Amino acid sequence: MTKTITAIDLVGPEAIRDPHGYFGALRDESPVFWDERYRSWVITGYREITTALRDPRFSSIRIAPFIRSKLSGPDTDPLMRQAFDVLAGWMVFQDAPDHMRLRNLVNKAFTARSVETLRTHIEELADQLIDHVPAHGRFDLIEEVAAPLPSIIIAELLGVPVEDRQQFERWTQKVAPLVSGGLDDPTRYDGVADGMDKLLNYFKGLVRRYEKEPADNLITQLIRARDEGDRLNEAEVLATCTLILFGGHETTANFIATAIRQLLLHPDQFAVLRDRRVTDNTAIEECLRFDGPAKALTRVLAQSLEFEGHQMQAGQRVFLILAGANRDPAVFDDPNTFKLDRDLGQRHIAFGYGPHFCMGAMLARLEGSILIPKIVRRLPDIKLADKEADWMPVLLTRGMKTLYLDRGI
Ligand code: HEM
Repeated sequence: MTKTITAIDLVGPEAIRDPHGYFGALRDESPVFWDERYRSWVITGYREITTALRDPRFSSIRIAPFIRSKLSGPDTDPLMRQAFDVLAGWMVFQDAPDHMRLRNLVNKAFTARSVETLRTHIEELADQLIDHVPAHGRFDLIEEVAAPLPSIIIAELLGVPVEDRQQFERWTQKVAPLVSGGLDDPTRYDGVADGMDKLLNYFKGLVRRYEKEPADNLITQLIRARDEGDRLNEAEVLATCTLILFGGHETTANFIATAIRQLLLHPDQFAVLRDRRVTDNTAIEECLRFDGPAKALTRVLAQSLEFEGHQMQAGQRVFLILAGANRDPAVFDDPNTFKLDRDLGQRHIAFGYGPHFCMGAMLARLEGSILIPKIVRRLPDIKLADKEADWMPVLLTRGMKTLYLDRGI
């Protein structure tokens, strides 16, 4: 007899450890599910998610209403209000037409053609980081290789001095739990106000610097857009800087680390990549499909509507579980098998879908397709040091706190 799912726990231990199994069971039974606990819709099927992400009634404006309802009173901490105001200015939390206006201003820097110019530099940097990995014993792949590469590249693109990297990483880490959906964590707002205030002041300093000495970087481009007519205001310049800094490093670091973990759990596939029995580009698409770093997205219903036989009400929150869609048997054959040479095209939705499709996808693909095969080929003796992964207990992203590996033993 099949069991009927009546309640779920979006950030419970099972959903965190094995989101594909947990949300896959939900998808197979109720691809559109009302979760009473968080009073939200949870959509897990590929067809249902892509339909919703094309529908403008599933709105991305989800910070501004929160500010109006929760952060407008006289007791509100002004720094907390400031932090949420910055988030409300992120393109990812806006709908048309503001969304496209903001996206078009920076999109050019992230096209396949623009990012391709970074290839040699990324290859050199990847080699340097791998050179520093100890020849024997235990090391944390995230700290040594997976996190520094995307973080250095995005800092250089923006015009953030690379030597300030540790500072801005500390501040972004303080804001991260809010952005990643740490639903049950009562401390998730604790560092947000302070972390965002420090980031903002830091970016204000850089904006003043590049106003005086323009350079070939994104901050200078944003300043020009601000000064040429009304295309962008000062607050939007700062919000966009913080978004790109955020978007640009943690997701990619998680992508690289999780891909290496999956390869180590599947030694046959590790060998396929090491021995070049698949192209690097094809291999990383399967890594993104099988266990990608964006586990879920959020939308809010701009109006009441009927969706797949369910009556949804304006204002209700919707979680779209990409981890469910990317293992949907209606779209992928044998979806729970990790097969690097799958003829996948780019049908997975690890980078989202529709108007908000990840702006940094080409950069993340380039970084992943350089770094992941290099790790496999230059460090073929690595082994997982721990059986269980140390997953972050959040809904929206899938990432480990550390990934300890052993070498030479
Ligand atoms: C493997 C790495 C990455 C993954 C899996 C990923 C995933 C995603 C996803 C799923 C979205 C859609 C959000 C939504 O619809 O609500 C998104 C949006 C976005 N991503 Fe990425 N991302 C990655 C790397 C990057 C990088 C390197 C950048 C660098 C700039 C970046 C910048 C952005 C921006 C700016 C948006 C907002 C786009 C918009 O609202 O139009 N991402 N990303």
